[in-house]
Amino acid sequence: MKICATIPEARAACRDARANRKRLGLVPTMGALHEGHLSLVRAAKAQCDAVAVSIFVNPTQFGPTEDLSKYPRQFDHDCRLLEKEGVEILFAPPVEEIYPGGEVTWVLVEGLSEKLDGRSRPGHFRGVTTIVSKLFHILEPEAAFFGQKDAAQLAVIRRMVQDLNFPVEIVACPIVREPDGLAMSSRNAYLNREERGRALVLQRSLQHAQQEFQTGERIAVKLIYAAKEVFAREPKVALDYFEIVDPDTLDSVERISQKTLVAVAAYVGSTRLIDNIVLNP
Ligand code: PAJ
Repeated sequence: MKICATIPEARAACRDARANRKRLGLVPTMGALHEGHLSLVRAAKAQCDAVAVSIFVNPTQFGPTEDLSKYPRQFDHDCRLLEKEGVEILFAPPVEEIYPGGEVTWVLVEGLSEKLDGRSRPGHFRGVTTIVSKLFHILEPEAAFFGQKDAAQLAVIRRMVQDLNFPVEIVACPIVREPDGLAMSSRNAYLNREERGRALVLQRSLQHAQQEFQTGERIAVKLIYAAKEVFAREPKVALDYFEIVDPDTLDSVERISQKTLVAVAAYVGSTRLIDNIVLNP
C-alpha cells in the first residue's frame, strides 16, 4: 500500500493506478476504522480495479463545541487493516496540507445541508461537501463509496455530485452492525458500559417503527409517536431527532407510499449517535 501525505504524491499515485487499471474507487474516512469502513473497502475492491482510502479527521465539519480534539486516532492500526484488505493507496494528509490557512472557498448544498444532522450541527455538511469535493479533485476516482449509516450525508453528497457534475459514481453500502444491533461507529468507543447498553434504544426505536409499519401503519406521525414512546422508557438518552423523510430531499413525509428514510439521532451521555432504516411499501 502506498501511503501519501501530500497532494502531489496522492494525485500521482491515483493517476498511475487509473492509467494501468482503469477504474479507481475511493473510500473517504476519518480513520478509527471498523467493520463498517472495511465493508466499503470490500465493496470498492469488488467493483473497481484499484482502491484508494483517505483518512483525514476533517476539522471543518466539526462544530466549535464538538469532539474534534478527542476524535479517536489510531493510524498504525488503520494502516494494518487496510493493508490486509489489499488497498493500493492511502491518502492521509496533515491538516495544513488540506487547509493551509486563509481558505475562503466552500462547497455548500443549500437547504439539504440544514436538514436532519445539518439542523443539529450547523456548518457540518458544508465541511463534509467541501472536503469530499477536494478529495474528488485531488484523487479523481471513478466511483466513491459511502455508508447508508450516514443517510443524510449520502443525500447531500449525491446532490452535490449531480449539481456540480462530478464525474464520480456514488455507491451506497448497507449499515454494518454489532451482533446486538448497534450500528458500528468510531464514536461507539466513547461509550462506557452503561451507555453502551442504553445506546441500543436507537435501534429499538427503529425496529418498533418498522413493526408498526409492517402491521399496516402508514401515517408518519403515528410511527414517530410509537418510536418516541420507546425513547421515553430510556430517559438517560436524549433524543435529538426521529424523522420520517424522503431519502433524496430529506423533507418530511406524511404518509409512507414509497421508499422512505426513518432516521434517528440521540445523545447517549455526551456521545451523539445516529441510525436509520429504509421502509419500502
Ligand atoms: P467516517 O465517519 O469515518 O465514515 C466514513 C464512511 O464510513 C462513511 O461513508 C460512513 O457512512 C461509513 N460508515 C460508518 N459507519 C458505518 C457502518 N456502521 N456501516 C456502513 N458504513 C459505515 O463519514 C465520514 O467519515 C466523513 O464525513 C467523510 C465522508 C470521510 C468526510 O470527512
